[in-house]
Amino acid sequence: MCGIVGYVGPQNALDVVLEGLRRLEYRGYDSAGVAVLAEGGMATAKKAGKLANLEKALVEEPLPAATIGIGHTRWATHGGPTDRNAHPHLSADGKVALVHNGIIENFAALRAECETAGVEFTSETDTEVAAHLLASAYAETPEGPGRLAEAMRAVSNRLEGAFTLVASHADEPDTLVASRRNSPLVVGLGETVDGTAEYFLGSDVAAFIAHTREARELGQDQVVEIDRTRGLTVTDFAGTVVEPTAYTVDWDAAAAEKGGHAWFMLKEIAEQPQAVADTLLGRLGDDGGLVLDEVRLSDQDLRDIDKVFVVSCGTSYHAGLIAKYAIEHWTRIPVEVEVASEFRYRDPVLDRSTLVVVISQSGETMDTLMALRHAKDQKARVLAICNVNGSTIPRESDAVLYTHAGPEIAVASTKSFLAQIVACYLVGLFLAQVRGVKYDDEVAAIVEDLRRLPEAVSEVLLQMEPVRELGRSLAGADTILFLGRHVAYPVALEGALKLKELAYIHAEGFAAGELKHGPIALIDQGTPVVVVVPSPRARESVHGKVVSNIQEVRARGARTIVIAEEGDEDVVPYADHIIRVPRTPTLMAPIVTTVPLQVLACEIADTRGYDVDQPRNLAKSVTVE
Ligand code: G6P
Repeated sequence: MCGIVGYVGPQNALDVVLEGLRRLEYRGYDSAGVAVLAEGGMATAKKAGKLANLEKALVEEPLPAATIGIGHTRWATHGGPTDRNAHPHLSADGKVALVHNGIIENFAALRAECETAGVEFTSETDTEVAAHLLASAYAETPEGPGRLAEAMRAVSNRLEGAFTLVASHADEPDTLVASRRNSPLVVGLGETVDGTAEYFLGSDVAAFIAHTREARELGQDQVVEIDRTRGLTVTDFAGTVVEPTAYTVDWDAAAAEKGGHAWFMLKEIAEQPQAVADTLLGRLGDDGGLVLDEVRLSDQDLRDIDKVFVVSCGTSYHAGLIAKYAIEHWTRIPVEVEVASEFRYRDPVLDRSTLVVVISQSGETMDTLMALRHAKDQKARVLAICNVNGSTIPRESDAVLYTHAGPEIAVASTKSFLAQIVACYLVGLFLAQVRGVKYDDEVAAIVEDLRRLPEAVSEVLLQMEPVRELGRSLAGADTILFLGRHVAYPVALEGALKLKELAYIHAEGFAAGELKHGPIALIDQGTPVVVVVPSPRARESVHGKVVSNIQEVRARGARTIVIAEEGDEDVVPYADHIIRVPRTPTLMAPIVTTVPLQVLACEIADTRGYDVDQPRNLAKSVTVE
């Protein structure tokens, strides 16, 4: 939430910063702004709305050439999405320019302090206070190398909450400083050309992937100084120098381009077979055991687990709901699934023998991070399933399994969801194996089922034209309902969420059996009802019951859209539209049945003329609670 870019090097800073912001716009698009440190001093431009507004303003009023600059794309928290509240924020003397991601929780007290000292604020943001504090801390810091970084440490020590700050000062034309607590920041190291080094700062590596894949990961409570001559220095908030972790980004710039698709979301839907395959890659060791990425837990710890919580938000929460069916079935350990924002506030019963699985595409979601920390405080073991390497959530967890879905740019999650389900299943199998409730060959057989899924998803993708056509015919609907049972129930929830997110249509997902207890009253003549039908081989005739549910809604006037596997003829008499998916084992079905729902939501939104990749009011990584 909020994207931050910084640049020091030989290139035109404005071009590099704008390009970085373009790649980070998924993090927020309420406003955008840049500041460059030119010969004549600090020059800024900022505009409410999408980055395109700022780019247009810059064509009309260009900024001077400079080789040091910062930029920001905003998801508003404190203060509306206006030009005035857009970042960068300047100090009263205009010398400091600063951008921020996060929320400064004690900003009101700090603002009052600045106002008492005579500072006049020009915005309603929590951020502006940091610009003023940095200017006064700088004035109080003795001259010499590292002065701006020292001032940044002094400010950081006074701030509470979550922040990534990047700032420059007109009196320090060769220096950029940054600070992070609870919000993300990575450093990119460019090539040294003719003795001139090049450095990038970004909320994530997408900001600089077009320039370099050499990155440095920053820890919690660290300050970065980039100086043209002294290079990169990282310290903690006390000033002790620390060595940042080096890593090479394993995807290239093309992964963050649309590649001929109209929307990133369509590209990401199309990449799902690969995302599933890559998440499975290399997971089965030579000894038949499953391989997680980082496990800082002993086998005994895992054998002692007597309860699992799965905690996550949004689409990741739906992956958790699906995981419950598989993990309980395979391990016989009770599993509870909860939205992260509720988890810690209801005081869940956690102890050493509880495993908390946190799922997060971004690895930054504040609700999930806070739930993780609460679980750790209560001595529970935490395992993260995450798509972004080195992000905060996996770093703070006891064990990690990375999904290898590749960069996901569209705000609404698609390929990460399928990869998360696969990863959750691997965790379930891993637990079953370690605890000895499944033999290695049983685990290998299920992994084989998983390995057949990329092909099944590819098959679904080849049959999407009728789904798109159906989507166009549904674009005028006011309400669309989604029903499912067993693992198809969370799929129905995800289908409804996708539609809400993208098409702004009222959509609800229900457990098909619950319909008769109330929601059936919503059904009117012509109400579209999407029914995700579980496998005819699912237990205790759950399939037959869903077929009855289709009849019930149809009898009340619903227009029924049925997602059923090839060969399921029972649904035919009651379906106004049938979307076929390949036959898969019961627990694997969500991987294929979700795909048409994603395509449907995308097509409806597109037909209604909405921005599919950047839906209103949303952000991809939500770094506030
Ligand atoms: C935001 C996004 C959702 C996402 C959720 C959880 O609300 O708009 O698409 O599912 O955050 O994000 P995470 O990165 O933790 O999976």
